[in-house]
Amino acid sequence: MSAPDREVDLRTEPPSRVQTAAFYEVRDLAPGEAVMLVTAEDPSLMMRSLDLQLRETLAWRSEAAEGGYRTRVQLRSDTDIDGTVDLLVRDHRTLDELFAKALRRVNANDVAGARELVERFAVAIRKHVELENTLLAPVLPRPRGPDGADHVEIMLREHDEILRQLAEVESCFTESAAPEAWEVEPFIAILSGTLAKHEYREESNLFPHWHAALDAMDEARRGELFARARALLAA
Ligand SMILES: [Fe+2]
Ligand SMILES: [Fe+2]
Repeated sequence: MSAPDREVDLRTEPPSRVQTAAFYEVRDLAPGEAVMLVTAEDPSLMMRSLDLQLRETLAWRSEAAEGGYRTRVQLRSDTDIDGTVDLLVRDHRTLDELFAKALRRVNANDVAGARELVERFAVAIRKHVELENTLLAPVLPRPRGPDGADHVEIMLREHDEILRQLAEVESCFTESAAPEAWEVEPFIAILSGTLAKHEYREESNLFPHWHAALDAMDEARRGELFARARALLAA
């Protein structure tokens, strides 16, 4: 049996401090753990903003209760995947983690340890790009920014750049059986920055539109797309 949720009553906090107090309660949530936040006000906006601060790693469910709201917060990775966009966002976090680990290994002078992580990352990012390019982009909307920029076109261009930078990282490892950390590090650091910006742009400019379009699809079609997306990433 799992332990009962920790309950934190934030109704006595001054309104200006509620979000900060909530942040400290949720930022170190461990897998399998949940916290119940009790607030006087509707926490929807606060939870959305905490989730963004914590790179969309949270899942929550709120209900109005006597004297306020009760919100159960847990890690998103502890919950079932909620559709295609959730699958993409979770995959972003997995990619980030893999690549951050590779960079840490390089910085610790363990290039051999980094090699295996880079190989796993390369397989995973190529599948992710294939999913976005070939399965989703052709059937989902192409929203435009206020300046007329086509967000799908930007995505496709950035994918080419990511794959080009990845090839550079890979060539460091193939040109030499045991490259030096200083030879590899700049290429990994550049790709890491490119990837973070790309994911941020997708999650803020494109995915909200894709999410709305998926929601508007009939259930059978949405389910089929989700199943194909999962199968592609799992292959
Ligand atoms: Fe992408
Ligand atoms: Fe993506």
